[in-house]
Parts: sequence; structure tokens; C-alpha cells
Amino acid sequence: MFETLKPQPADKILALMQMYRDDPRADKIDLGVGVYKNAEGVTPVMRAIKAAEHKLWEEQTSKAYVGLVGDPAYSDAMIKLILGDAVERGNVAAAATPGGTGAVRQAFELIKMANPSAKVYVSDPTWPNHVSILKYIGIETVTYRYFDPETRGVNFDGMMEDLKGASKGDVILLHGCCHNPTGANLNMAQWQEVVDLLNANGLIPMIDIAYQGFGDGLEEDAQGVRLVASSCPEVLIAASCSKNFGIYRERTGLLMAVSNDASAQALNQGTLAFLNRQNYSFPPDHGARLVTMILNDDALRADWAKELEDTRLGMLGLRQQLADELQNLSGSNRFGFIAQHRGMFSLLGTTPDLVEKMRVDNGIYMVGDSRLNIAGLNQKTVPILAKAIIDAGV
Ligand code: LMR
Repeated sequence: MFETLKPQPADKILALMQMYRDDPRADKIDLGVGVYKNAEGVTPVMRAIKAAEHKLWEEQTSKAYVGLVGDPAYSDAMIKLILGDAVERGNVAAAATPGGTGAVRQAFELIKMANPSAKVYVSDPTWPNHVSILKYIGIETVTYRYFDPETRGVNFDGMMEDLKGASKGDVILLHGCCHNPTGANLNMAQWQEVVDLLNANGLIPMIDIAYQGFGDGLEEDAQGVRLVASSCPEVLIAASCSKNFGIYRERTGLLMAVSNDASAQALNQGTLAFLNRQNYSFPPDHGARLVTMILNDDALRADWAKELEDTRLGMLGLRQQLADELQNLSGSNRFGFIAQHRGMFSLLGTTPDLVEKMRVDNGIYMVGDSRLNIAGLNQKTVPILAKAIIDAGV
């Protein structure tokens, strides 16, 4: 049997992570995988997570199974964090998943189960694993224009034109905030136009929200998803706690199925439980429990929100510093978009050859499509990157 296996393509983000580890240069700079790093290059355990872990260690008396969709208190807390008061709790089915990727995978499985002929529309570009999982489970994927290589902002006219080509029942995958990989995001007027199109043409939105709190703030970053959830009859939402709680390896995510018909909730909830059972049975509990403890405790929550806000502001400062540095070196404002983008990433919009050149010449690691992780920088490395960008001829 094993002899029939074929080597699978490496995930480009994870392959780059390995190349970085293997590079002996002391001054190498990792701007690859989407993991937050502080000025010392460390991905810290957030203070509130440490405190919650300490409490859990003292108080937890059992590691027995919790439930197929996780602890309902986790779903309640996360639904509130993401959706606020946008929809009635009774209209949301939810299941804990192993990370945001687990939620994305389960959402695709649900789509395939509910409507095997649905196509999923993804932004060009999108997180490469969206496309990879869709291909793996056999869902037809269509791309819609998203990134404007001239302005490095959203090509909104192109996006809308392409979405108009989708048929009733097709699924439109949107990034809730902090678009990965571009850093270019929709404004609220554009979200509203998208919602109008979705509703006019019977399209189903699926929102991947993995960076809430990394863009304009916890509340601000949820405005788009809240608008969609309160305006469209059916919505799928895949959420991740990896980044905003810094619990990457704990694999903590949530899949939500929102329906404006409350009578659909029980069926949706049962379907999410079934899908969990088929794929991995019980979802991981540790990270979800910490998140629940933090969100339900005023002091822990305030400290978490403060640390997250400091993280966000730190990234904004680095964005501005890089944009300023590039303005000085290039004598033009053509890199101003870096300060406008939001979240962990910016797409430089240059060629794989120049990305490769910066890796070989300067030990700067960014993804081949020219996505750079702003959080991989610090005040000392910003000028080094800026010089490398200009020297490479970007
Ligand atoms: C990324 O885009 O770098 C992150 O979401 C990590 C991953 O799994 O690819």
C-alpha cells in the first residue's frame, strides 16, 4: 500500500520556517510564518494565559472528556467576543475545533455535506492552506480579484465584478480582518456593498477571522463579521485564538453556523457535533478553557485586552517606522501602503526572484509571494529590512 503514495507538495509557509531554522547566519531575520514575536524575538505566553493556567492547575480535578463540541461556556464567550450583540445567541450553532484551521476544515466539510455542487470563492491571494484544503476535500475553488498590485490596496471593483459571477448557493470566503497575506482590508462601506451583493444573489458568506485585535482594535476588527452575521440569512464563521491569545500550539478555534431562522440551530448544532465526532471526536480543551476563564473574569480580561492592545500598537509603530524609513531611502511615498495595511502581514507586491535575493543576500525570510510578517521586526531590524528592499530594487 505505502508504495502507492506520492510525495505531497510542501506547504510554502512551513517550508520557509524550516529553511530559516537551518540558516546558520546570526543576523537572519524571520518575517515568514504568522507568529507574533516581541522586540526580543520571543513569542511570549501572555500574562493572562499564565495566570489562568496557574489557576487551572490548582483547581482542575479531572481530565475526563468535556463534550463533542467542547464546553458550551467557551462557545458562549467566543460568540460574544466576535459577534457582540449582532445576533441572538439562539441563532448560532458552534463547535470548538483544533485551531482556526480545524474550524476552516470543518466548515468546508459542512459545505460539502450540505451542497456538494457549491463552489467556494476565495480572494486572490488568500491563505494558501484555504486552497490546499479545498482541493484536498474536492470542492471546486474559484478566485476573485482582491489585491491591486498598483495601489497595494483592495481592488474592490474587480472583487465585486468577480463575485457577481458566483451562482446562488456558492460560498464566498472572506477574511474578517487583517487579510492574510495582503494586509489590505475592506472598509465598512465596502462590507455593506458585499453584503448587499451576497443577499441579492443568494450567496453564502464564510468568514475566517484569525487576527481579531491585531488590526484596529478588538471591537473594530469585528465590525465586518458582525454586519454580515446580522444581515445575511446563513453565515459560517471560522475563528482562531492562536494569535490574539498567543496559544498557537494549544490549537484553539471555533466554528459557528449562524442562521436567521432559529429553528435551524438544533440541526446545525447536531451537524457540527457529528462532524467533530467523525474527524477527531472531542476537540482540545486546554486552550479553550483558558480563553473561557479569561473572557469571564474581569481582571484577567482587562489584562489580556491591555497586552493585546500593546501588541497591536507595537505592530502599528513598526509599520510606520518601516514606511518612513522606505520613504527616506526611496525619496518617494510608494511604500506608504505599509502604514495603511493592518494586521500581522503586508504584501510587498514584488517578485519571487527579489524575495529570494533578499533571503540569499541578507538572510531576510519572507514568504515567496512577498508577504512579510511585521511582528518579526523590531526597531533595530526595520532599517536593515528597508535597506535590503531598496538594494534589491523592489
Ligand atoms: C500563517 O499564515 O503564517 C499562519 O496562519 C500560520 C499557518 O499555519 O500558516
